[in-house]
Amino acid sequence: MSGRMPLMAGNWKMYFTVGEAVALLEELKGGISRFDDREVVVAPPFTALSAVASALAGSPIRLAAQNCHWESQGAYTGEIAPAMLKDLGCRYVIVGHSERRQYFGETDGSINRKMVALLALEIVPILCVGETLEQRQAGETLRILADQLTGAFEGLKDEEVGRVVLAYEPVWAIGTGHTATPEQAQEAHAFIRDRLADRFNNEVANGIRILYGGSVKPENVDTLMAQPDIDGALVGGASLKSASFVRIVDFVG
Ligand code: 13P
Repeated sequence: MSGRMPLMAGNWKMYFTVGEAVALLEELKGGISRFDDREVVVAPPFTALSAVASALAGSPIRLAAQNCHWESQGAYTGEIAPAMLKDLGCRYVIVGHSERRQYFGETDGSINRKMVALLALEIVPILCVGETLEQRQAGETLRILADQLTGAFEGLKDEEVGRVVLAYEPVWAIGTGHTATPEQAQEAHAFIRDRLADRFNNEVANGIRILYGGSVKPENVDTLMAQPDIDGALVGGASLKSASFVRIVDFVG
C-alpha cells in the first residue's frame, strides 16, 4: 500500500448551466457512498461554483475550479483571482490543463505563476502534464514531462511541491476514447515520481498523488487504479453523467 489517498476528480469543462450542475451534484450525493478510503472532487465551470458549493454543504465531495489568474486582483477583464475561488470554498484548482495550453496560450511560465499564487493561499493546484501524439511518436514523452514539471515547479520549495496534486493526461487520450494502457500510464507516473525524487526529495515523491486522465471510463478504471503509481483519476466525459462517475469513484482495486 502506498498510503496515498486515492483522489477521483470530475472535470466538467465547459458543460452545464447552474441548474444542470446542481442536478448532477444532487445525483452524485445520492449515488456515491465510499468516502472513507477515497477523496471525491468535482470541478464545475466558474458560473456554477457558487451554487454547487451551496449544494455541497454537509457532503464530503470537494470543490475545484478549472483555472485561475495568478494576480490577487486588478484590471484583468474576464479573469478570476485565486482568493475569489477560495472564498467560494474551492479546495483545488486545475492548472495547466492541455486544453488551456493548446487553445488559450498557457505556458510553463504562466502555469508557474498560478502555482505560486494558489499555494500562497493554501489552495491545492491539480497540475496537468502530458505529451501530444506527435511527441509520443517521436519518443519525446519523458523529456516533455520533465520539462513541464521543471517549468511548473520553478522556484517552489520542497514543502510546497509536496502539497500539489499532479495529473498525467496524455493529450492523445483526452476525449478520444484511446485510453493509455495501464502500462503506458504506469511508466509515465513512475517516471514523474522518480523526477520528483531527484529534484526534490523522496518524501515529496512518495507522498504526492499522481492522477491519470484521458478517456477514463467505468470499463477501464479498475485496471488503471491497480497500477502502483496511479493514485486517482481526472475524468472528463465520463464525469458528466452520474452513473458513470459513480462507478468510477467506486473503482475496485
Ligand atoms: P476525458 O475523460 O473526456 O478524456 O477528459 C480527460 C480530461 O481532460 C480531464 O481533465
